[in-house]
Amino acid sequence: MAFTGLKSVVLCLSLLALPALAADLSTAPYIRAVEKKPSLLQMLAAAWRPKSVHAAAAPTPAQTARTRHAAAAPRKPKAPPAATAAPETPVAQPVTVGAAATPPAQLSEVELAAKGLLLFNDASLSGGSKASCATCHFSTGHTNNKTYVGLDVVADGDPNGRNTPTLWGVGERSVFGWQGQAATLEDSIRGIIVNRMKGPEPSPETLAALVAYVRTLNYPANWQVKEDGTPRPDASAAVKRGFDLYVGDGGCGTCHQLPSFDKKSKDDIGTGGKFKVPTLHAAASTAPYFHDGRTASLRDAVKLMWEFYAKKMESRLPTEAELDDLTAYVGAL
Ligand code: HEC
Ligand code: HEC
Repeated sequence: MAFTGLKSVVLCLSLLALPALAADLSTAPYIRAVEKKPSLLQMLAAAWRPKSVHAAAAPTPAQTARTRHAAAAPRKPKAPPAATAAPETPVAQPVTVGAAATPPAQLSEVELAAKGLLLFNDASLSGGSKASCATCHFSTGHTNNKTYVGLDVVADGDPNGRNTPTLWGVGERSVFGWQGQAATLEDSIRGIIVNRMKGPEPSPETLAALVAYVRTLNYPANWQVKEDGTPRPDASAAVKRGFDLYVGDGGCGTCHQLPSFDKKSKDDIGTGGKFKVPTLHAAASTAPYFHDGRTASLRDAVKLMWEFYAKKMESRLPTEAELDDLTAYVGAL
């Protein structure tokens, strides 16, 4: 397909999807997360653009699954057609209405993602139309900061409760669910629809569309910390000191490994069993913390983690000032 034609499809799909996005946002009092959310155009552009960040990493099961998708619905060419034409600012491009009138025979990843956005807001995926994905993964796939058993909100810290994780960056993960119970995004989403939402068995098309959509959910741009996890030159002094503790005496980097801030395996850190090492990206707005939401403040979560590490390694405890610095760094991710 001609490059301008493709861009037109991206644009037209964005316009089509806007009302659904608005529906999601209209219910979002969580202003901070809303401000940080990626724009729909960024999401669609991200869906279309080849990912470069972790291109060097070995393929994960999730990425393998993505390849399967690619076979079903061929992705766009891997490299942008011309360096000068990279779609960084799709808004500036003219809209050619005619081009969108002749859609490709198979759904592209972008079209699938646009369909997935509608499904993400569709309560009929759940038994009795009680909830859509956006009910819990509020603010464009982030989190409503609540802890659930099934579709029921429970007290934070309830041992059976599971706190809603953010879906930002989910396309880069390779274990899903707090206990790492699903190895692919497809399995994870299917399990949630059937078990948590008590909805009808989703069709392969529905699953593919939801997977394509959640893969477009990226972390917001970060002015303090680079993609490799190191502080930028103009980051605050506290964030810089916090980084040194993170990779140094705090021991955090041994489990929440840079640059993804997670790990592919599970650990028992004394919270009631083995849980996956979650990413710390966007942690400032994902309270409460841990699988059961037992800790309301990020500083308390950081403190609990350092105390665990110090006990395990028989190493030193942090000072109050060090806890502040480490919390500043983790809160900046
Ligand atoms: C009632 C609230 C709720 C609804 C509705 C909901 N989720 Fe979730 N979601 C959660 C919770 C809680 C978890 C953690 C579950 C666990 O670990 O057992 C989760 C986990 C996930 C994960 C795994 C993320 C990770 O990093 O481990 C994905 C993917 C996901 N949800 C996608 C969806 C999609 C897509 C829908 C709609 C079909 C949906 N969710 C509907 C609350 C919800
Ligand atoms: C031995 C591995 C390990 C080490 C070392 C470790 N963590 Fe964790 N961390 C985990 C696991 C596993 C969980 C999830 C436990 C749960 O959900 O019950 C977790 C959860 C967290 C959470 C909650 C995240 C969320 O989304 O709810 C934060 C914050 C955190 N760790 C920060 C840190 C910091 C800061 C350090 C260094 C002081 C650190 N961790 C060291 C394994 C580790």
